[in-house]
Amino acid sequence: MTVKELRQKFLEFFREHGHAIVPGAPLIPENNPTVLFTTAGMHPLVPYLEGEKHPEGARLASVQKCIRTTDIEEVGDASHLTFFEMLGNWSLGDYGKREAIEMSFEFLTSPEWLNIPIKKLAITVFEGDAEVSRDDESAEVWKKLGIPDHKISFMGRADNWWGPAGETGPCGPDTEMFYYVGEGDPSQKSNPKTDSAKWVEIWNDVFMLYDKRAEGKYAELIQKNIDTGMGLERTSAVLQGKASVYEIELFTPLLAQIERLCGYKYEERLKEFRIIADHARASAFILAEGVLPSNLDQGYVLRRLIRRAYRMGRQLGIEGPFLSRISEIVINQMRSDYPELQDNKSFIMSGISQEEEKFEKTLERGLREFGKMSTDGKLSGKDAFVLFSTYGFPYEMTEELAKEKGIEIAKAEFDKEFKEHQEISRKGAEAKFKGGLADSDEETKRLHTATHLLQAALRRVLGEHVEQKGSNITVDRLRFDFMHPDKLTEDEKIKVEYSVNSAIKADYPVTWEEIPTEEAKKQGALGFFGHKYGDMVKVYTIGKGDDIFSKEICGGPHVTHTGRLGHFKIIKEEAVSAGIRRIKAIFEK
Ligand code: SER
Repeated sequence: MTVKELRQKFLEFFREHGHAIVPGAPLIPENNPTVLFTTAGMHPLVPYLEGEKHPEGARLASVQKCIRTTDIEEVGDASHLTFFEMLGNWSLGDYGKREAIEMSFEFLTSPEWLNIPIKKLAITVFEGDAEVSRDDESAEVWKKLGIPDHKISFMGRADNWWGPAGETGPCGPDTEMFYYVGEGDPSQKSNPKTDSAKWVEIWNDVFMLYDKRAEGKYAELIQKNIDTGMGLERTSAVLQGKASVYEIELFTPLLAQIERLCGYKYEERLKEFRIIADHARASAFILAEGVLPSNLDQGYVLRRLIRRAYRMGRQLGIEGPFLSRISEIVINQMRSDYPELQDNKSFIMSGISQEEEKFEKTLERGLREFGKMSTDGKLSGKDAFVLFSTYGFPYEMTEELAKEKGIEIAKAEFDKEFKEHQEISRKGAEAKFKGGLADSDEETKRLHTATHLLQAALRRVLGEHVEQKGSNITVDRLRFDFMHPDKLTEDEKIKVEYSVNSAIKADYPVTWEEIPTEEAKKQGALGFFGHKYGDMVKVYTIGKGDDIFSKEICGGPHVTHTGRLGHFKIIKEEAVSAGIRRIKAIFEK
């Protein structure tokens, strides 16, 4: 079964079972400052899992592009990826555990669908702890469906508890489905608890019953949800009988291109090939959403991915920038499902090449310094740290170089320096966080509402060509990118601030309704340019009767009255790229 077929079958199955197919969301979450990337299909659905009504109903399914960086060091083995696609289905207070498990089982084993022999499957279930009891109910359902006792293992929080995706949000116990990848027939005794190397997790049904709050407490959700996630690449790999995700058709053309560039065979240098292929995909998708390499947030992750891939290329003997040539294959291969790749092709390719060039310069400079520091055949830990912190020279490269030249590094001293430095930056980050507001959820809601006011004000002051290109909210500021050809004058900035503050003073109600997308457009609701919407959308209105200040298609959440916002102040106005400006704003204390 091809990857494409698996995507289609999954959606078809859940459509037949009454689910609305919803479009995937962007990789960069729009209004969730607690995470850098969309890490799971449930991510864009958080407000609905928390009880808001979803315009498409209570049964949903999607294919969601995701990035997870927690496993970045594992990339290179057979199953870890930073960028992957997740197939998912959801019940928003609709069906429960039994039906969710029955559907998972039917999709996996029915001859009409994936046709996996039952003996190749094993299940794990939450074993319970002081707070939440053992999930015997799930185990019973699996047993009734024909999974033998010895293939159902009970495990703890580390294995069978999911979420939240950020620091706070919906979470709960889960039951996971594993596929046998060991030699021969799955033996009577083998299961993922005792024999984990022989089993690959392919699907996860989460029972989202709790909401983790900022203070670390778990509150029961009023609405009991189901959230499932199936890794597309992993499942494709096991169905195709491949030993690793890198051997499915999404990767083989990338590996072939790397072979052409370096002369090694994939089998000879698994780790380097895999890292390059994975990072080329992740980088292309991040750049496709307008993020450039930088030292901050998503830009920093992107920078790391490109530089690491570059280093792997160097280890394979590839000279100079090459990664954009791998990403180009990613673009060509995936553009029909992800048109943003094609739309931003030159931005992606040049973004990658420019970063590689920058890194080359960094390496050259580091190399020169390294030479100066190690004239006596030794490199102190302090100097190795300076190379890393001041010259951006990766420690691995220092080590590599030292080995080549027979130079000794005081590693223990480097480690000490590194640790101290980390301590300092962690303390700094904590202090910064504590300086923020006690209730981060409420503060982000206020800034989110201010973003709507800002867009409306910009359109009033500058003209209707102003259109949102991006938005990002942290606990202490909003950032809004929009189309406008020129730098704002002082006078324009004052007018925009005044307009937003007048809307705050007017204490407008903030209300929403779900209406057909067509109707929303007819009413002049602003939408996010280039965004795919379903048939029904949520529209937020600020104002009342004849006095409507803003109307936008948006998932929320928002405050209920603009009077809840503070005094709005623009702190920065700058260019992002040609024709796109960026405003950062805060509430003045
Ligand atoms: N949120 C769960 C996961 O990511 C199921 O979708 O595994």
